[in-house]
Amino acid sequence: MDFKEHITDKLTELTGLDRDTVRAAMETPPDEKLGDLAFPCFPLAKVMRKAPPLIAQELASKLSADELIEKVDAVGGYLNFFFDRAAFITDTISAAREAGDGWGRSDIGRGKTVLVEYSSPNIAKPFHIGHLFSTAVGNSLARIYKFLGYDVQSLNHLGDWGTQFGKLICAYKRWGDPEVIAKDPINELLKIYVKFHEEAEKDPSLEDEARDYFKKLEDGDEEATALWSRFRDLSLDEFNRIYDMLGVKFDSYNGEAFYSDKMDEVVELLDEKGLLVESEGARVVDLSDMDMPPCIILKSDGATIYATRDIAAALYRHRTYNFYKNIYVVGLPQSLHFRQIFETMRRAGWEWSKDCVHVGFGLVKLPGKSMSTRHGDVIFLEDVLNESIEKTRAIIEKNNSDVDDADAVAKKIGIGAVLYTFLKNSREKDIVFSWDTMLDFDGESAPYCMYGYARGRSILRRAEGIDHSSADLSAAVSDDAYTLVKHLAGFGAAVEDAAAKNEPFYVTRYVTNLVKLFNKFYNTNPIMRDDVPEDVKKARLAIVDTVCTVIRSALSLLGIGVVESM
Ligand code: ARG
Repeated sequence: MDFKEHITDKLTELTGLDRDTVRAAMETPPDEKLGDLAFPCFPLAKVMRKAPPLIAQELASKLSADELIEKVDAVGGYLNFFFDRAAFITDTISAAREAGDGWGRSDIGRGKTVLVEYSSPNIAKPFHIGHLFSTAVGNSLARIYKFLGYDVQSLNHLGDWGTQFGKLICAYKRWGDPEVIAKDPINELLKIYVKFHEEAEKDPSLEDEARDYFKKLEDGDEEATALWSRFRDLSLDEFNRIYDMLGVKFDSYNGEAFYSDKMDEVVELLDEKGLLVESEGARVVDLSDMDMPPCIILKSDGATIYATRDIAAALYRHRTYNFYKNIYVVGLPQSLHFRQIFETMRRAGWEWSKDCVHVGFGLVKLPGKSMSTRHGDVIFLEDVLNESIEKTRAIIEKNNSDVDDADAVAKKIGIGAVLYTFLKNSREKDIVFSWDTMLDFDGESAPYCMYGYARGRSILRRAEGIDHSSADLSAAVSDDAYTLVKHLAGFGAAVEDAAAKNEPFYVTRYVTNLVKLFNKFYNTNPIMRDDVPEDVKKARLAIVDTVCTVIRSALSLLGIGVVESM
């Protein structure tokens, strides 16, 4: 039985109001002491021609306690409902146990396709910390939407096209050493790319050469294409190593190159709508009435650019997936770019452009020298992940934890700790990367949440042999048990909030608070102690079991795993 529905029924009958109106008016009181649900009587004042406090009192006198409601108080213009705690705990835990891993899931997304584009690193360039931010947020959003029943496609819009590839081919032909490159591809490719720029300062003819190479690439020249394809494969191998570590998978790696032959149509379509104007030899969409710089579609040399490829990609995605939402998880510095292309698409008459969403995120600040920089200035992500794993390993050893497989445990915790850092706060906030915060087992961190899970599991292991499957849950009633179970009941709502705002931190905050409440419950409600009566023990174990399931589910929505002991 749903408590809110039950109360809605009663109020609808009493007030004669429309059921949906009653339901929508109901609020959660700011303080638990005021009750579990409140109904504000202010809107009734006009109809009933009475002061709200009076209405509240009259309604309260007509409402009696029943099997779900313990009492109803009139406070000011509010009616405050207190649930019957035993009924609520029994109801919630039974339902959660029946649902198992499905607790909090929904099917609101059924039949709808959500595209989540994330990570999208650039070929032959380092996968930097911003790409990791995108990967953490995008992977989490993809999991959240799946949990809500959406058909999700994870897209990696690789930066694998553009004039820079002409430069890279040119550099490779001059200074590239295949053996050296095979050993450390991205680093070496980056080196010769940097060298190209240095040399081109002295000898500008290199730029022409590079332009020719890119032209060749665009025309499908065999040698240029083979080189490009090799750079792409080598880079993808490195990216995939990181994705494997993070447990991230994509449904498509169609990057910018994939759209290179789909742009003539875009130019034609925009031209047909009369959107293209000449500007210094380039063809652009004028957006000055929106206070935006023009969206450049064709450069003066006729070459298409980043924006054109993005527009072609959006059109392709619309045709291929008929998406409900097309989400771009890309840093905030690209906000203007997305506003420009979305507006251009709107003007083209593509009404589905309203379903394209830029999900931006802030900057990452790396504190001084504390991060590994063995590759020079650029911080290599794999190093960050490995450093986190090593540091975790040291902590585990120092704590003398009795874990069977310290390597595997350190890996899950270390990686979880990095992911958590990106998902902890509203994504638009800048992040200061700090090992101390990230690996603080007592603070708001992945290790803290994972430790809550491990602790719950260890209680359940100790209780093996005690059958709590048909526990009488009313035996578990206590203040802390009630608060904890109320939080368990709110899991689905937290996930829905996260999806509605494209903010995984709703889930992060949810699971962190769940562990906090669990720790409190565990401290005030002993479980395996000898003096705890058997029925109470069973009821509490049933709650612990549910808590573990929900921590695991919530962390998995963040891309973070769990360990049985740590
Ligand atoms: N490759 C780009 C970069 O590293 C990000 C691509 C973002 N996605 C897009 N559809 N424009 O900055």
